[in-house]
Amino acid sequence: MATEQFLISAEQAEAYEERFVPALFRQWVEPVLEAAAVGPGDQLLDVACGTGVVARAAVDRVTPNGSVTGVDLNPAMLAVARRVAPEIEWRQGDVAALPFSEDAFDVVTCQSAIFFFPDPTGALTEMGRVTRPGGRVAVQAFSSLSAQPAYGPWVDMVARHAGPDAVELLGTYWTHGDPEIMRGRCADAGLRVTAVHEHTRPAYFPNTETMVLTEVNATPLRDRLDQVDLDRILAESHEVLGHFVRDGRLVIPLAGYVLATSPA
Ligand SMILES: C[S@@+](CC[C@H](N)C(=O)[O-])C[C@H]1O[C@@H](n2cnc3c(N)ncnc32)[C@H](O)[C@@H]1O
Repeated sequence: MATEQFLISAEQAEAYEERFVPALFRQWVEPVLEAAAVGPGDQLLDVACGTGVVARAAVDRVTPNGSVTGVDLNPAMLAVARRVAPEIEWRQGDVAALPFSEDAFDVVTCQSAIFFFPDPTGALTEMGRVTRPGGRVAVQAFSSLSAQPAYGPWVDMVARHAGPDAVELLGTYWTHGDPEIMRGRCADAGLRVTAVHEHTRPAYFPNTETMVLTEVNATPLRDRLDQVDLDRILAESHEVLGHFVRDGRLVIPLAGYVLATSPA
């Protein structure tokens, strides 16, 4: 799940939509749209839209008279988004300089992406700039590793085998886990936090082995571990994650939060 940089091929973008969206990202869409109070008539922008799971769900809520636009840096993600929902407007763009004018939207959403942005405060400032006064900006992130009931102990175990910096290598997703730090960034970006909604949502994997290989292969850990290390990690993963297996499937609780904000 963790990647140092989000450079994505066409094949990876298809796999993202087919596997990762149903496994994990779809479960956060309703909390994000709820926090943003998305309703009929809203002009909505979904930032770092990926293959479009948030934007697609938003269409039903903004109808009638609303509109939905998705923007993402990565053309491969946008190509999948366009194929799945050609009726939505998809734009390529960097959150550091969004290709929209001031006050262009009522609502801006950003799900599972803030931890990839080199300048998160600058990104929040841009989201606020394109939102009209009195509009809403909702940003979702995952909680810190120490608050993750399954990933926390699992990463600790991997670090015992792969070395302490494994935590960092597996860590991109957890780096914005403290809502208080994010609250400060929002203030610096001119966004007033109106609510912090904490949630725990499931992530589904067909089995424990698939989860371990997915995590390791998505990070520089892949080049670090020999087969002996990997076998040990796999064996211990069954112990650490055993009580999250339901009918053979691994169901991992993921803790996260959505910040509801408004341009100050
Ligand atoms: C984990 S995906 C989340 C996608 C989508 N929001 C979802 O929930 O499925 C992270 C997305 O952030 C995008 N991204 C990363 N850096 C970006 C930037 N600087 N500007 C715009 N999008 C960016 C990536 O291309 C990728 O599609």
